Amino acid sequence: MKRAGNIYLVGMMGAGKTTVGRLLARRLKLRFVDSDQEIEGRCGVKIPLIFEIEGEGRFRAREAQVLAELTALDGVVIGTGGGAVLSEENRQRLAANGTVVYLRARPEDLYERVRHDRNRPLLATGDPLERLRALYAERDPLYRSIADLTVDTGRQGRQRTGAPAALQTRRAMESLRLELGSRSYPIHIGADLLARADLYRPHLGGGGVAIVTNEVVAPLYLAKVRAGLPGLPVTEIVVPDGEQAKGWQTLDRVLDALLAARFGRDGLLIALGGGVVGDLAGFAAAVYQRGVAFLQVPTTLLAQVDSSVGGKTAINHPRGKNMIGAFHQPRAVIADVAALDTLPDRELRAGLAEVIKHAVALDVPFLEWLEENIGKLTARDRAALTYAVRRCCEIKAGIVASDEREAGQRALLNFGHTFGHAIEAATGYGAWLHGEAIAAGMVMAAELSVRAGLIARPDATRLKALLVRAGLPVTGPAVSPSG
Ligand SMILES: NC(=O)c1ccc[n+]([C@@H]2O[C@H](COP(=O)([O-])OP(=O)(O)OC[C@H]3O[C@@H](n4cnc5c(N)ncnc54)[C@H](O)[C@@H]3O)[C@@H](O)[C@H]2O)c1
Repeated sequence: MKRAGNIYLVGMMGAGKTTVGRLLARRLKLRFVDSDQEIEGRCGVKIPLIFEIEGEGRFRAREAQVLAELTALDGVVIGTGGGAVLSEENRQRLAANGTVVYLRARPEDLYERVRHDRNRPLLATGDPLERLRALYAERDPLYRSIADLTVDTGRQGRQRTGAPAALQTRRAMESLRLELGSRSYPIHIGADLLARADLYRPHLGGGGVAIVTNEVVAPLYLAKVRAGLPGLPVTEIVVPDGEQAKGWQTLDRVLDALLAARFGRDGLLIALGGGVVGDLAGFAAAVYQRGVAFLQVPTTLLAQVDSSVGGKTAINHPRGKNMIGAFHQPRAVIADVAALDTLPDRELRAGLAEVIKHAVALDVPFLEWLEENIGKLTARDRAALTYAVRRCCEIKAGIVASDEREAGQRALLNFGHTFGHAIEAATGYGAWLHGEAIAAGMVMAAELSVRAGLIARPDATRLKALLVRAGLPVTGPAVSPSG
């Protein structure tokens, strides 16, 4: 898990890391450091000579050492060597400590830029273009695997203007990373992200794009997401609204539509909607052809702070909610807080129950922040919403990274859920929103804890007071044992 702060530029030799890095650092008032120049400075000789005398292995060891030191700094833009990503350790370091920007250019464009450069030991071969192609084939997937943002610097002039402009926008967005080894993924949070092609591009494969959404969200946001996928044929799968859509019948429709569209194993499925769509589409992605890549694009507060992160996907069974499912992590989460503008008040409040749950269960300073800012959140202040979504995602990403399959700590996020699920079941799913049931469920769980002597009465009272201010129910429904 990380915060946006430092910027690390990765990419092939000649992609423009030094040029872009300097420009960026100047505009963002950060310090630019070029890791290759740092190594040369320490050794007192140029890189080709280090290669010649010590060999590539020793150079890579020096590079790893320098990167370990540089990534520990704050407020820097770092231009990394083209081969830095070959080391898993370097990749993890870069991904964990800052925003990774991949400056991408085709080998042919790179060749035009570097063919006369004598300072490139790896190109000292008979056919440098072929060598560039081979290096690109090897490294491109590695750059992509850690990139929060990919900027095309291939065309002339682009690297002087495109990347800084994109990154200025980028700073309005918060990005975290959920660390799960090779299945790690970014979580982007901010306003007006839905149409941003740069957020989808790194995840596109060759097998087509399909968007699963529902009949409420489609008219509001489907066109925006399509605008972020220019020129691509997109299969739109619009399912009915509501919890009942999370069942076999709708799943079958989704799978059928994917097959009819000849959606390939290397296709990208996008879940655009609340937790229902996220769970359903995520499960479809988990089982379609034994698993395909998918993005979570959550449009409810509940989905942005909770269900889109962590890879739990499911449909309901007549005998129980979420009974059929799979753990299947998305490739990225794109949480656009501007989409919350159209969310009904009641749904917004239900999402706030999950926000409060994260704070009460795991983060007292965040709870204090919520007590001060709950009014801003109910008034849909975007900065406050962005902060709350980010903090919840940080908490959840940290927990999922250490307990992906809920063997221990992740169960903390089920606070209030035992009573909450009972309320949902007893009232018939739909009468109470999930978040509303969780709100009352948390109060019931806290009351039980007070009685068991596990927490003090004022803690339970504090929780209740915050939920009331958020407009949430704090007592369960009157249900008779006979139903
Ligand atoms: N996978 C997990 O880890 C996890 C965690 C918590 C909850 N869940 C699941 O999430 C589901 C609840 O999610 P939810 O609360 O998002 O419900 P939901 O998906 O039904 O969305 C609530 C309502 O808001 C509408 N909507 C969505 N985005 C909108 C927008 N931007 N503007 C206007 N309307 C919009 C939806 O069409 C729906 O009518 C449950 O099925 C629950 O089991 C899953």
